[in-house]
Amino acid sequence: MRVLGIETSCDETAVAIVEAPAGAGPFANGPVGRILANVVYSQLTEHRRFGGVVPEIAARAHLERLDGLVIEALAEAGLGLGDLDGIAATGGPGLIGGVLVGVMTAKALAFAHDKPFLAVNHLEGHALSVRLTEDVAFPYLLLLVSGGHCQLLTVQGPGNFTRLGTTIDDAVGECFDKTAKLLGLGFPGGPAVEQAAQGGDPKRFALPRPMWRKPGCDFSFSGLKTAVRQAVEKIDRTDSRAVTDLCASFQRTVGDVLADRCANALAVAPMSTLVVAGGVAANVYLRGRLEELAASRGARLVAPPVRLCTDNGAMIAWAGLERLRLGMTDALDFRPRPRWPLDPDAANRV
Ligand code: KG4
Ligand code: ZN
Repeated sequence: MRVLGIETSCDETAVAIVEAPAGAGPFANGPVGRILANVVYSQLTEHRRFGGVVPEIAARAHLERLDGLVIEALAEAGLGLGDLDGIAATGGPGLIGGVLVGVMTAKALAFAHDKPFLAVNHLEGHALSVRLTEDVAFPYLLLLVSGGHCQLLTVQGPGNFTRLGTTIDDAVGECFDKTAKLLGLGFPGGPAVEQAAQGGDPKRFALPRPMWRKPGCDFSFSGLKTAVRQAVEKIDRTDSRAVTDLCASFQRTVGDVLADRCANALAVAPMSTLVVAGGVAANVYLRGRLEELAASRGARLVAPPVRLCTDNGAMIAWAGLERLRLGMTDALDFRPRPRWPLDPDAANRV
């Protein structure tokens, strides 16, 4: 079974083709799924001078690039559109102009070639991506950490999530981006902060750990953001030692908070597998912290390969493939959604 996936919800225009056996299991004696093509055009240069993503510029850049990337992905896989079993696109949540471009393109391809269309929730793409490369069975506990989200969920299957906690203010990726901006490290901030933290003293700056050791699984990062700003005001930004130590201290603080929240989640919903996904999951230090935490609770940490943590088409193609296997296809009148919670009942439970 082969599915083409399109991702255009933020600032990466991405197309991928993945393949897996039609039944639920992995390939015989082989990987779970295979990536036949994976092309990404990052709009970094378009947005960098604004210090963030400009929605209108993003939508236009997706429109200009997407057709070419679909052709490129098919060529990379050595396939024609007729060889595919389904066409998937991110249907939300995200910047709506970009989502529209991806969804309209996918619908047109599906219609013209008489293939099923699959509207994939971007967060579900992150949530299931680990199953493309690793043999992870449902259910599992998921820490989803990206530029716009910070949530703990249990994952029962495609379209079947229970939210245990979420951030009450900022997302953790946003906090990385803000820290980088304050320190003049550039955009996107996550990789820049991780790089700058190398060799730093993680104990030099005492930063607050919002929600740490409080009951429940919710997160908060606004207080940490403010504390970082105050710390930056006190140091000399040209003092590379101070910048390195502050980044290391910040990362350790985030690690403490994420580990503490995951410990609570594992107590509420004991699972043998903790999965971390989303752009921030690319952070090697944080992966290490979560690995330690999981091991201390008799669970294992599983994460997608670093290159599949940040936005990509393979995760959308894969979630589409998982849905296609279950017959969860979408009609061509699907409307793109700027907001689309993974667990729509969560709001009613709190
Ligand atoms: O999942 P993603 O690519 O896009 C969203 O869906 O938001 O996540 C992007 C976020 C950005 O905030 C970026 O700074 C952060 O993930 N990020 C990282 C790292 N790589 C990307 N944060 C910490 N460490 C990293 N290595
Ligand atoms: Zn994402």
